[in-house]
Amino acid sequence: MSHILVTGGAGFIGANFVLDWLRQEGADGIVNADKLTYAGNRKSLAAVEGDVRHIFSQTDICDAAAVTRLLESHRPRAVLHFAAESHVDRSIHGPVDFVQTNVVGTFTLLEAVLAYWRALDAPSRAAFRFLHVSTDEVFGSLCPADPPFSETSPYQPNSPYSASKAASDHMVRAYHHTYGLPVLTTNCSNNYGPFHFPEKLIPLMITSALAGKPLPVYGDGLNVRDWLYVGDHCAAIREVLARGRPGETYNVGGWNEKTNLEVVHALCDMLDALKPKASGSYRDQIVFVKDRPGHDRRYAIDASKLARELGWKPAETFETGLRKTVQWYLHNQDWVQDVLSGEYRHWVAKQYAA
Ligand code: NAD
Ligand code: DAU
Repeated sequence: MSHILVTGGAGFIGANFVLDWLRQEGADGIVNADKLTYAGNRKSLAAVEGDVRHIFSQTDICDAAAVTRLLESHRPRAVLHFAAESHVDRSIHGPVDFVQTNVVGTFTLLEAVLAYWRALDAPSRAAFRFLHVSTDEVFGSLCPADPPFSETSPYQPNSPYSASKAASDHMVRAYHHTYGLPVLTTNCSNNYGPFHFPEKLIPLMITSALAGKPLPVYGDGLNVRDWLYVGDHCAAIREVLARGRPGETYNVGGWNEKTNLEVVHALCDMLDALKPKASGSYRDQIVFVKDRPGHDRRYAIDASKLARELGWKPAETFETGLRKTVQWYLHNQDWVQDVLSGEYRHWVAKQYAA
């Protein structure tokens, strides 16, 4: 059986991708290399435990020898790089892990992959792909009337997280231009859906609402994000892997700009309908808290290149995607309770102390 190697496949998007990939007819096997940081969770992969097509390895991408061993023993036809430190607020408290994994880790992975790729026979070398999963945050912040980010928008990262992702994008690009490694980069907007760690806006609001806790909205709540259901992101990555042109970057987005307050109101209203409180609305739990330092005002993605060249467009609307997400959290309280344990409580205490 041929394999692909996925890094970070126990995280939110990585786990959704692994489950989604293995549901496709004739899918290659997956070697899933994940360090299992606080954000990695084997329970998200429960549906494929015991599936011979899924080989899990607890591996740090900064460990060159371990990555090389995985490449040599499983001979993947592609590497899909999801692994990263991904939370902006954590990058503000402690940027060092972001530089280590996102910059040094991506560099280490590229070095190992380059050596492996160079030693392949000519047909395998031509067919090989390195797909780098990145973010729209590398483009910085938009003013209200600006057009959405395109693939040619200048890089203007504003947080330690987005700066570290921008650095990784540049290294990936350089390995194509300098060494000819067949790379593809995707820059995606905000994802939401099942298995999302509740430090991020949407799962934080759902889990806090159900627990009767405050719903902390930063600043005036009018920052704008472009939301995409995670299953649509996974489908876009499959398309780019199959038919994207090496050396190209592809923006992925939902054509779905919302202020944070609109998102939180929509969630509260959905919960009011699906799991009403004894009295009042979940909206009553909203509190405005101190803003995130350097908070980017607006992100929006122009995903027309992906539509034009590869025929991809999102299948879910915000309404249908949010409903699936809320229902998933309501029906998967074991996963939620497991995640809301020690490390998570420390994070919430530190971040929302004031
Ligand atoms: P996540 O934080 O949920 O998961 C990250 C995963 O990477 C975890 O399983 C973690 O254990 C693993 N990991 C971290 N450091 C590692 C290391 N050194 N070696 C191996 N594994 C390591 O992140 P996510 O939200 O699933 O994001 C996945 C990727 O998609 C990231 O590269 C992120 O920048 C990008 N992205 C995320 C979003 C979003 O909205 N979540 C949007 C666009 C792009
Ligand atoms: O745009 C893509 C990016 O989206 C990804 O690259 C990141 O990995 C991912 O974490 C996400 O970054 P954001 O910072 O946009 O996501 P987050 O869920 O942390 O915040 C979304 C918005 O909600 C943002 O404007 C901050 C606000 N927010 C967030 C939290 C956690 C609040 O108002 N209150 C909160 O408690």
